[in-house]
Amino acid sequence: MSRTPFVGGNWKMNTGPESGPALAREVAAGAAEHPGCEVAVFPPFPFLLAVGRALAGSAVKLGAQDCYFEPDGAFTGEVSLGMLKDCGVSVVLTGHSERRHVLGETDALINAKTRAVLAAGLECVLCIGEKLEQREAGQTDAVNERQLRAGLAGVSAEQMARVTIAYEPVWAIGTGKVATTADAQDAHAKCRGVLAAMFGSAVAQATRIQYGGSLKPGNAAELLAQPDIDGGLVGGASLKASDFVPIIAAAAGRV
Ligand code: 13P
Repeated sequence: MSRTPFVGGNWKMNTGPESGPALAREVAAGAAEHPGCEVAVFPPFPFLLAVGRALAGSAVKLGAQDCYFEPDGAFTGEVSLGMLKDCGVSVVLTGHSERRHVLGETDALINAKTRAVLAAGLECVLCIGEKLEQREAGQTDAVNERQLRAGLAGVSAEQMARVTIAYEPVWAIGTGKVATTADAQDAHAKCRGVLAAMFGSAVAQATRIQYGGSLKPGNAAELLAQPDIDGGLVGGASLKASDFVPIIAAAAGRV
């Protein structure tokens, strides 16, 4: 089963009203050279509209880094999926490690958000991954399985067509430490096994699993050539088109 590679640029709490759209224009131009790879950028909320305008006419998708699961009401500081759709967002991250471990999001909240994204008709990138102490304690596979099962509870096999998994080992995010190719491939294959147990093998084979964690132009080709690694979710290296576009090229050239 061939899966179209998918590379996302998670800008986190970076860029500004001018640098965001400028980066988006450069990404759109670069991505157009590599049509074999699907691309999305995830700017901060205040710049969604401006980045969306910068992406107009390009195939690059506009993504949101987070959402709230309620449609409206007294939820100070939160942003609904209807609002994100009005901004042109088509794909939303849930469960990013910084939201789990810095902002304290639980598996239950992440599941509510994931189900709300899918109920709103959008695509979802559910992020999972173990912390260093969990890896060292031999718990990597158990943590990933728990986060997959909890995050995807109540999601149907049909909705899985709009789900991407991002495996981002927490100890590799923003640290310059990258999982070895063998460790990353092994974790991805295990995650696919969990998806097969949950949804059947056809869904598992069709679901894209991105790698995230210090992905750079220099390590992307080897990681993205692995059979179960279907693209990447990129943080730091997505902030410069000269770093991000070569990662897109590596994903598009995956054999
Ligand atoms: P870095 O690429 O900066 O390690 O961040 C990865 C990440 O968290 C993407 O969501």
